[in-house]
Amino acid sequence: MSDHPPHEPSSPVNVERRRFLGATLAGAAVGALDAPAHGEERATRRAASANRSVMDLALPPMERIRIGVIGVGMRGAELLRLSMAVPGTEITALCDTHGPTLEHAVELVRKTTGKTVPTYTGRDDIYKALVARPDVDAVIIATPWQWHVPMALDSMANGKQTFVEVPAALNVEDAWQLVESAEKHRVHCMMLENCCYGRSELMLLELVRADVLGEIIHGEGAYIHDLRWILKDMNVGEGHWRPQWYTKRMGNAYPTHGLGPLAQCMGINRGDQFDSIVSMSSPARGFAAAAKSGFPADYPANKLKFILGDMNSSLIQTKSGRTLLLQHDVCSPRPYSRINLLQGLKGTFAGYPDRLALDDHGGGEEWITDLTGWFRKYDNVLWSTQLEQATAQGGHGGMDFVMIWRIVHCLRNGLPMDQSVYDAAAWSVIFDLSEQSVRARAARRDFPDFTRGVWQHTAPVKIELAAAR
Ligand SMILES: NC(=O)c1ccc[n+]([C@@H]2O[C@H](COP(=O)([O-])OP(=O)(O)OC[C@H]3O[C@@H](n4cnc5c(N)ncnc54)[C@H](O)[C@@H]3O)[C@@H](O)[C@H]2O)c1
Repeated sequence: MSDHPPHEPSSPVNVERRRFLGATLAGAAVGALDAPAHGEERATRRAASANRSVMDLALPPMERIRIGVIGVGMRGAELLRLSMAVPGTEITALCDTHGPTLEHAVELVRKTTGKTVPTYTGRDDIYKALVARPDVDAVIIATPWQWHVPMALDSMANGKQTFVEVPAALNVEDAWQLVESAEKHRVHCMMLENCCYGRSELMLLELVRADVLGEIIHGEGAYIHDLRWILKDMNVGEGHWRPQWYTKRMGNAYPTHGLGPLAQCMGINRGDQFDSIVSMSSPARGFAAAAKSGFPADYPANKLKFILGDMNSSLIQTKSGRTLLLQHDVCSPRPYSRINLLQGLKGTFAGYPDRLALDDHGGGEEWITDLTGWFRKYDNVLWSTQLEQATAQGGHGGMDFVMIWRIVHCLRNGLPMDQSVYDAAAWSVIFDLSEQSVRARAARRDFPDFTRGVWQHTAPVKIELAAAR
């Protein structure tokens, strides 16, 4: 559709991105990426920053949360619907460059609240007017990936609490920019990693907190989701922009869904930290095969050269030596899975389907598959208090509702966010670091310390309700 943006807008960040891509592709051809670890250089370069940390940033409680949404396509419209379902919110502005999509969202607000919401459309950078509005407290960003960082930076520069879809950043440099901006402007910058609010994932966090699994040694996560259907319509929605990334980038292009909940359970950025990564990809065949078998030779997908390997497997080691296997595959005939496995000295939890093996239940040799009693005992408070609403509102089985409810609860009670800007940065840069490793024959790449040492004295996350005010 003509009023859709070009695939790579000419924002400063994307000019930078293109430079990086050019350098990366050229470098890969001559093996130049075996040079000193990108992450190390960045970490050293940023170490001297005078900014104060925003780890566990607590801001004054807000009575009512006035929300502006940028990007109201498939994901943004859902976040909009759920935001209106949570008490204490008001939608004060919407932005989307695609007119019909925006109209649909305006109608949704009108039907739900009876109000006509102000809108912004017509140009790629019109969102800047939304983030400048004095009646917007919090900005939700649900646009294609290349827009996340420029939009989040502008939102934070205007003092807005900023909530950005996954992945928050596409490379190390941009992740640093998010961190530095949140620190400079003293605002929340949370990536909307909704899987951290799944009922199973939050129950797992409670199992870890109660020491049911013992000392955690290893985790396994994934984003295995057959997305070949996005090739069906390449004029609108994800089909318009997502396949383009699979022709430009390698490695794990969507790392955070399987990883986020495990990182919280393992105390990443809170007592431990990602240290290094190695990554390998299989050949890139799935999308090309789907395009060839499903569409005529002159169909746009048949003109693309896919380079993102079908199955990417990365191994991450933490500062304390623990390991995490992370996989990404979006073009194979496999059932959906985020694996969601966490292994401790006393037991192992695994997802898809949920099960538990415990030393003191038969030596851990057999899975316990009926977890009803475990959920009764260890359900996180967000689910035990919001179960009915979450079930009624839905959104990936209710976790999207729980996430938005929790964000609003934190803002209204002056609590820190459960996911910090340091988490957004460390989880998202796996895209960049895994790509660097894949291009350099699985060479090890170091993670920057986005917290600049603060991880060493930060307590693990506790997802609890505020004391009644
Ligand atoms: N957390 C989740 O479960 C989940 C699920 C789906 C998508 N996502 C993420 O949400 C984001 C959006 O995905 P989607 O599926 O909604 O894609 P989409 O293409 O359906 O929607 C994106 C919208 O952004 C608009 N847009 C593009 N450039 C813009 C600009 N400069 N200014 C304003 N609007 C602009 C488009 O017109 C479109 O309506 C992506 O980052 C994706 O990774 C997350």
